[in-house]
Amino acid sequence: MFTRNSLLKSLPRSSPLSTSFRRNASTKSLKETLEEVIPHKQQHLKRLKAEHSDTVIGDVKVANVIGGMRGLRAMLWDSSVLDPDEGIRFHGHSIPDCQRLLPPAPGGKEVIAESMLWLLLTGQVPTAEQTRQLSRELAEKAELPEFVEKLVDSFPTTLHPMTQLGMGVAALNHGSAFQAAYEKGMKKTEYWQHTFDDCINLVARLPALAARIFRNVYNPGAPLPAIDKDLDLVGNYTKLLGYGDNHDLTEYLRLYIAIHGDHEGGNASAHTAHLVGSTLSDPYLAYSAALFALAGPLHGLANQEVLRWQLAMQKEVGDNVDHETIREYLWRTLKSGQVVPGYGHGVLRKPDPRFMALQEFCDSRPELGNSPIIQLVKKTYEVAPDVLKEHGKTKNPYPNVDAASGCVLYHYGLTQFKYYTVIFGVSRALGCVTQLVWARALGLPIERPKSYSLDAIEQLAKSGST
Ligand SMILES: CC(C)(COP(=O)(O)OP(=O)(O)OC[C@H]1O[C@@H](n2cnc3c(N)ncnc32)[C@H](O)[C@@H]1OP(=O)(O)O)[C@@H](O)C(=O)NCCC(=O)NCCS
Repeated sequence: MFTRNSLLKSLPRSSPLSTSFRRNASTKSLKETLEEVIPHKQQHLKRLKAEHSDTVIGDVKVANVIGGMRGLRAMLWDSSVLDPDEGIRFHGHSIPDCQRLLPPAPGGKEVIAESMLWLLLTGQVPTAEQTRQLSRELAEKAELPEFVEKLVDSFPTTLHPMTQLGMGVAALNHGSAFQAAYEKGMKKTEYWQHTFDDCINLVARLPALAARIFRNVYNPGAPLPAIDKDLDLVGNYTKLLGYGDNHDLTEYLRLYIAIHGDHEGGNASAHTAHLVGSTLSDPYLAYSAALFALAGPLHGLANQEVLRWQLAMQKEVGDNVDHETIREYLWRTLKSGQVVPGYGHGVLRKPDPRFMALQEFCDSRPELGNSPIIQLVKKTYEVAPDVLKEHGKTKNPYPNVDAASGCVLYHYGLTQFKYYTVIFGVSRALGCVTQLVWARALGLPIERPKSYSLDAIEQLAKSGST
């Protein structure tokens, strides 16, 4: 008999739909490709609704309701699925698959945001030419409106970069194609097209916005270079940040931003974007809300927390430290009532494949292999799972992506760790905009789960009702 997990694992890795389109879509733009794919998914959803609307596919325990809805399978999110043991797959493709299949930037090797966005949105692997066309389109749309530049320039430099990013993204809705068309009275079937246009503009403008915040906070008055129409999204981003000459950092950020872009639907930022988008708020407002969820220390802020913690450890124990000393440091962190940042996960129960991909990147570059902070991350990984198992609280004693992400940036000289979550914010847009487009294409309704009071939960539990 199938268990639910084994059944989910036995599903085809990529749908026949994607394969058949992959062969003949090579010259089509992203929007044209989507136009072809959407009717098939609409039919699929229609069939599912007609045949299975009342079919029970799960149950709800009190623990789910009072435990942050953990384990409750109650969202439709098509672009990626997170398996507790295997980690993330994007339309059935693992991270190593994506590294093998998705076109890199010219002169680069790593998977990039454009090819990942294409895969997420369409379920298909783009050609190198399609990827370059998308890079060019994003570069052409990358400039910020002048009033947004002025708004961001007016923020105090002490305002957290994530607050600045969220406010800047919200202000971009001034030019929302979706909102303008909605006011004029568009048909529901046209929703996705305007949502798509907003989403592409949003992704295109994020590097300029994020880099302007970096410049204002850390290098006030420094000139910002112009967007290069021949560069990919992240190539332009590192150039604007002032690290354009650092090919290794650019490659690292390409990988990080691509593989961190989507982590199925229930994580706080993705879920927030979906919830807010479901009210027909435009993509800028929906993603702005998601960024404020990302700004929490249990979610996106963890990458800055990891670095802060690893640096404090380095200061106390020095370099070339042995495992026993790290073990003692970990216990001190736990005994002081703090979490070990970069470890644990709401869904994963094995080391995060995103962490493993970043580790592989470090192992492939001697300068990273010799970096004291990267060595400390690696040694911590060799010790922490056993300590956390012995501690006995966390359900997942293994590292998540953030255990490594910030330390690599630090090694390459991007040492302003209050800024790190902004980079995550540039990345997470890939998954969130994908869902925003699909939610409109599939006509998904406003999200509205039912809540219960404490007394009602108790009564239901006692009566054994479901
Ligand atoms: C990611 C995280 C928020 C998931 O939370 P969660 O789903 O509630 O995790 P669990 O169900 O395993 O938590 C059970 C207990 O273990 C604790 N725990 C979880 N991760 C822990 C960690 N890294 N260090 C110490 N304790 C941890 C929890 O605080 C909780 O304790 P409590 O019962 O006293 O409240 C949590 O693991 C965490 O705080 N990790 C550190 C921050 C981090 O790396 N965040 C980035 C996530 S990608």
